[in-house]
Amino acid sequence: MSADPRVSIHPDSEVLMAAIAARLITKLVDLQDTHGEATIVLTGGSMGIGSLKAVADSPASRAVDWSKVNFWWGDERFVGSDEADRNARQAHEALLAHIPVDPARVHVPGSSDEFATPEDAAADYARQLNEAAAAEHAADMSDDRPERPGNLPRLDIVLLGVGPDAHVASLFPEQAGIRETDLAVVGVRHSPKPPPLRVSLTLPTINTAAEVWIVVAGEDKAGAVGLALAGANPVQVPAAGPRGRSKTLWLIDANAASRVPEQLVRKAPSGA
Ligand code: 6PG
Repeated sequence: MSADPRVSIHPDSEVLMAAIAARLITKLVDLQDTHGEATIVLTGGSMGIGSLKAVADSPASRAVDWSKVNFWWGDERFVGSDEADRNARQAHEALLAHIPVDPARVHVPGSSDEFATPEDAAADYARQLNEAAAAEHAADMSDDRPERPGNLPRLDIVLLGVGPDAHVASLFPEQAGIRETDLAVVGVRHSPKPPPLRVSLTLPTINTAAEVWIVVAGEDKAGAVGLALAGANPVQVPAAGPRGRSKTLWLIDANAASRVPEQLVRKAPSGA
């Protein structure tokens, strides 16, 4: 089972980031009220990092027990661990440095300091995911969330940005990563968006998530967003591929929304 996309359009990127932050905080608090912990998969990119900053700036973020949030990344740049390019470093500066996380719950993909190739780092990240899944399975199973696959942990929310070429995570049009169906995590070698070497969750892994939130702002993304929501083939338009099991939510600004198919746009109430 997977959920058809729902679209929520906000006037501009500032409002969008604040709205994403408010939704995230509420969702994490809800998950923790019910299950004690929550698992989120972060993304790089302007909206992904901007939204984390908006979470850090919100007084309501203190309602979340950050020590019981598990953090993973949808993709990472395969460069030195201290490079400004690292998605994890940017997320750290935007949010994680400002909240009381449990370091054991922060799962950063390996860097070029630790691994010779992005494929090695990808295999290690898949191993970390498997270990987390095994630990979850060994723990109390009594809850009512959607069934998860055996070799991956439960992913409550996956955040994804979209590039102007319609890539998501580090899955680029027509490249091997977007076609991958066996591996949970891939090494990427020819990213058109610098840096060229990356590590990425694959589409089958992303689509095990309970909820996928796709966060996009800007006129340069309008074509990609329009094609993805019109149901293009994910090999050509990777953003068409992600689907949460219970929710697929596009959170976008008005500039990115100009080519969204009419039937997906919620109309303002008449006479308002
Ligand atoms: C990255 C990403 C990537 C990003 C999109 C959108 O590592 O670059 O995770 O998938 O989310 O390229 O990025 P912008 O919002 O900056 O355009």
